[in-house]
Amino acid sequence: MQRRKIIIDTDPGQDDAAAIMLALASPDELDVLGLTAVAGNVPLSFTSRNLRIVCELCGRPDAKVYEGALKPLNRPQVTAEHVHGKTGLDGAELPEPTMVAQEQNAIDFIIETLRREPEGTVTLCTLGPLTNIAMALTKAPDIASRVQELVMMGGGLFEGGNITPAAEFNIYVDPEAAKIVFGAGIPVVMMPLDVTHQLLTTKARVEKIAALGNRPSQVLVEWLAFFERFDIEKYGSDGGPLHDPSVIAYLLKPDLFTGRHCNVEIETESELTVGMTVADWWGVTGRTANATFMRHVDADGFFELLTERVGRL
Ligand code: BDR
Ligand code: CA
Repeated sequence: MQRRKIIIDTDPGQDDAAAIMLALASPDELDVLGLTAVAGNVPLSFTSRNLRIVCELCGRPDAKVYEGALKPLNRPQVTAEHVHGKTGLDGAELPEPTMVAQEQNAIDFIIETLRREPEGTVTLCTLGPLTNIAMALTKAPDIASRVQELVMMGGGLFEGGNITPAAEFNIYVDPEAAKIVFGAGIPVVMMPLDVTHQLLTTKARVEKIAALGNRPSQVLVEWLAFFERFDIEKYGSDGGPLHDPSVIAYLLKPDLFTGRHCNVEIETESELTVGMTVADWWGVTGRTANATFMRHVDADGFFELLTERVGRL
């Protein structure tokens, strides 16, 4: 497999942390050019801090972290402390990071990187609201055609939403940004709730991670215990859905996922359904396909991959 250059745009979040761990544990396949923080689960000051904590936990204080948007394009900020805790990474006791964020802004870093690297060689991995990416595309529309692929956690169709009956959190927080991204002509791969609700942190799966015994796996288990409590209560399932690592798992093992290339539009106006990803799964509109909407995942294969990689940290 050719080593893939990626930028991870994220709002950690315990499940974001798991995704970053999976990426940083896979240097043979993934070259992480930089990690960009965005406001989402918690305000930017926390997502930047959390991102640096995760890099240090993975033994990568040399990783480049950039800070981006403080709030959505033109809406008040919505956060999810009710899921992730006050810091966004509640659940484990960790020291404050010693790493500092780069001086360059995340939006300029994304633009410069895409202009510098050969066309079609950089993949954007988004684990939070799409504000940073939309700002970069608006400031520098020429970068759209240079992106190899944008793989995102966001949206939902058959499963409905998780922050409203119709909308998934990442899209709901900044639907205008999502609209810009889906309209940019970039090859988009979506990991919607339809996929991530299959990725349950069951007791048996978490026990395998706990058995690894290294420090990162211990911390991950503590984070997962905190993170899943909200969803276990909500869905009554054995474990909660582990959303964001699906994006990185797709880069490492695309065959774990199946879906359909179809048209996806973003609702930005209706009060009732704002943030909905209207996926034309059955091809009834004649609108041009602009995204690959994943629907099924080999959940055991996903957890085997995650566990094996976290064991390498
Ligand atoms: C998404 O929202 C956040 O709470 C998670 O980190 C994930 O990116 C799931 O809807
Ligand atoms: Ca996230």
